[in-house]
Amino acid sequence: MPKPSVQYVCSSCGAKAPQMLGRCPVCGEWGTYEEETTMPVTVKNAAFTRQKIQTVPVRLHEIEVTEDSRIDMLSGELNRVLGGGLVPGSLVLLGGEPGIGKSTLALQVLMRMAERKTLYASGEESLRQLKLRAERLAGNPENLYLVADTSLENILRQVADLQPDLVVIDSIQTIATEAVEATIGSLTQVKECAARILQFAKEKNIPFLIVGHINKEGSIAGPKVLEHMVDTVLQFEGDQHYMYRILRAQKNRFGSTSEIGIFSMQNDGLREVSNPSELLLSTQRDGLSGIAISAAVEGVRPLLIEVQALVSSAAYGTPQRSSTGFDARRLNMLLAVLEKRVGFKLLQKDVFLNIAGGIRVNDPSIDLAVLAAVLSSNMDIALDASVCLTGEVGLAGEIRPVNRIDQRIREAEKLGFKRILIPAGQAYQANGLSIEVQPVKKVTDAFRLLMKQ
Ligand code: TYD
Ligand code: MG
Repeated sequence: MPKPSVQYVCSSCGAKAPQMLGRCPVCGEWGTYEEETTMPVTVKNAAFTRQKIQTVPVRLHEIEVTEDSRIDMLSGELNRVLGGGLVPGSLVLLGGEPGIGKSTLALQVLMRMAERKTLYASGEESLRQLKLRAERLAGNPENLYLVADTSLENILRQVADLQPDLVVIDSIQTIATEAVEATIGSLTQVKECAARILQFAKEKNIPFLIVGHINKEGSIAGPKVLEHMVDTVLQFEGDQHYMYRILRAQKNRFGSTSEIGIFSMQNDGLREVSNPSELLLSTQRDGLSGIAISAAVEGVRPLLIEVQALVSSAAYGTPQRSSTGFDARRLNMLLAVLEKRVGFKLLQKDVFLNIAGGIRVNDPSIDLAVLAAVLSSNMDIALDASVCLTGEVGLAGEIRPVNRIDQRIREAEKLGFKRILIPAGQAYQANGLSIEVQPVKKVTDAFRLLMKQ
């Protein structure tokens, strides 16, 4: 018998060391090292790895690509994020926190593709549990096969026999290959399984959708190497307590990474949201202070987002600053701009910020709405409900230009806003607009316009 070798691997970046380390010298993370026992590859296993894809060089112009080579997922939102459908033989990693709806999304996609033969392999749930979930999603497709197994070899054997058009593996952390003797869910297992699936998918030209859990830092559990191996990394995010879910492409070999898909979680599964702005705005905001609407863009999609702020006198010594859906450090920076450039005294105030709908916003153009909401709450004066804002705020209190300004203006117009504040000096198409566009240069200019009703 060959002797197993022990080594220590960083679960964050995949660096290896001969002994346990407290801090990873490569990525600088603390307490990420895990022990890994690996068996040397035996002759039997080596035979498996040696079956390589045929590697004869081909001239570029000889490669034929047919137009309709992508698989239609029958979901507008998913197709959009994938870059126009799924590429055959590609490997897609679907990551997200537990309970966010990854299994629901995966099962629903297969159920919808009733015309095609598909396989759902679950290492997490029994067939009975899967059936119950499918009943909830309503539908009973004939060509959807299910297998509850944790052995990768078994699953791949089933795939080879069945020759499905698409395979879901739920999840990569709950399956194991016999080729390595590491515990299920460990780094070595996850990596090895992914490598084998990759080889299999490319050889047989069958696409795989692999579900992966996310660790506490928000990256897909398992080292970065997993993200490098697959063709596409999709991230499913949102707040479990709200119904909205956003699907983002973090990496896409076959499309853009700036598209997002929006879903809402209902009792009978995920529903596509094609008009997100209408749903994200609360209808009853007239006369309430501390609310401002931002014309944001997530990916390439314009979204009107409601920013809510609450400013109150600090009850205890140190004032609290807390934000949900918006970077807390950026909030502190914006409050410092308010203090220094506008002369607001917020030192003794608690400031709470919330992005309505439980979504996370990365677009910096929301800055101006954040400041407007803080101002409105601080003065306890409601802003005009028909005004909407867009603009990044710089350290000098200047309003900086944003991308896709025309799309933002049109979206605000479409939703019935009468006025929009945009960064000064930014060119936009003014033809035929029914919304009044007011360019602003500094935060103080914006406040003056907002308070003059
Ligand atoms: P699930 O897909 O199991 O999450 P994940 O695989 O990412 O861990 O979804 C779990 C949550 O979704 C659970 O709290 C119940 C809820 N849910 C619905 O609200 N409606 C539904 O139709 C289904 C199937 C689940
Ligand atoms: Mg699940």
